[in-house]
Amino acid sequence: MNTARLILNGDEHELPVVVGTENEVGIDVTSLRSQTGAITIDPGFANTGSCKSAITFIDGENGILRYRGYPIEQIAASRATFIEVAYLLIYGALPTPGEMAEYSRLMTRHSFIHEDMKNFFNNFPPMTHPMAILSAMVGSLSGYYPEGTDELNILRVLAKAKTISAYAYKKSIGEPFVYPKPELSYIANILNMMFSHPSEDYEVPEVLERALRLLLILHADHEQNCSTSTVRMVGSSGAGLFSTISAGICALWGPLHGGANQEVIEMLEHIRDDGGDYKAYIEKAKDKNDPFRLMGFGHRVYKNFDPRAKILKEQADNVLKLMGMDDPLLDIARNLEDIALHDDYFIERKLYPNVDFYSGIIYKAMGIPTNMFTVMFALGRIPGWIAHYREMKADPDTRINRPRQVYVGPAERPWVRREER
Ligand code: SDX
Repeated sequence: MNTARLILNGDEHELPVVVGTENEVGIDVTSLRSQTGAITIDPGFANTGSCKSAITFIDGENGILRYRGYPIEQIAASRATFIEVAYLLIYGALPTPGEMAEYSRLMTRHSFIHEDMKNFFNNFPPMTHPMAILSAMVGSLSGYYPEGTDELNILRVLAKAKTISAYAYKKSIGEPFVYPKPELSYIANILNMMFSHPSEDYEVPEVLERALRLLLILHADHEQNCSTSTVRMVGSSGAGLFSTISAGICALWGPLHGGANQEVIEMLEHIRDDGGDYKAYIEKAKDKNDPFRLMGFGHRVYKNFDPRAKILKEQADNVLKLMGMDDPLLDIARNLEDIALHDDYFIERKLYPNVDFYSGIIYKAMGIPTNMFTVMFALGRIPGWIAHYREMKADPDTRINRPRQVYVGPAERPWVRREER
């Protein structure tokens, strides 16, 4: 199969076909308009491939996720560090020990933000959401580092985003900023910058470091999702890396995308505070006249279990046990999942828990405030956004992204002077 035939207005047209590593088939419509005058229409791009990519493979029907060919389950079970996985996604190969040591040194070297950037935090209104702060400050990096190759700016944004995020949290609780420590890992530095205080010694708990490492690795990439497609769209105009990552942060913030992890916890807390009647909320989620949706459920690609949700569901138990905690929200989540997975409405629509359904319970158990959940998602996803930015820029097929449309507005009509209206 290497062509597709299209019959339009009685004329037959042949279109080439692209077949991927896992035998996915894409009909190449590059010549469609010149051949037929017609374009495709696909609101939400559910049936449209924007590019060929070698970074991440998802099989939504079978719940498969692989980073550069490595199954997510094996990566999660390995001792890989978050930066090791970031390196794999960005450069396409697992780093040698020497490459790993050098990359970690560079991560440490670039972890600090310009001292003047600390003044930003004094001018955001007190209740500013940290995602607004993160996107604003990542975008402003181009003011502090106007030069710099993409490769240098990759190190800068990867290393500084965690510092900006931790400072946003410290500012929100009125505590002094804590500088990154060279001897700590990327993950341990996030936790130390968030939870240590100059007045006392703080040792990053191993259980927290392990949990956050897993969470960020599971969020590191997910092929052409909304925020990654935003990065590719913005980057295709030639905009710089800092601007494209800032745009990705903005897209991720949406409640239907990365903002869902915050929405899930707020939904579970609302159900708990409303007497815990989770069955009533399942009915609300099914009611077309009710805007309520079961947050953390459903996915554009996964029509089976999100493999990340499976891993996090197991981890939620471990983290709570290791923290000596018992969270009734986990019970509500489990009950919601159990009912939904046996309800025709969810079964017919192939709605399963996604990565956001359990992640919030773990973040909450770690003492991370709800409004920082999506910031954690962003810190995890930055390597994926960078990988796609690099791949897009290196792809000879890349052109500025400029979709077409079918116009359905008024036909031509004469202008009406104001006095005649
Ligand atoms: C992420 O793309 C990615 O890869 C994203 C992500 C990543 O790693 O980058 O995986 C991260 O964003 C995960 C998704 C987080 N969002 C949520 O949990 C929000 C709740 N879920 C939904 O809003 C929804 O499922 C989406 C946004 C995730 C997917 O939307 P689609 O593919 O456009 O599906 P749809 O809205 O057209 O829904 C299809 C049907 C509809 O019913 P009908 O009109 O056919 O009768 O399913 C229903 C929807 O009403 N439906 C839900 C539902 N999700 C879909 N009904 C109740 N609760 C839900 N959560």
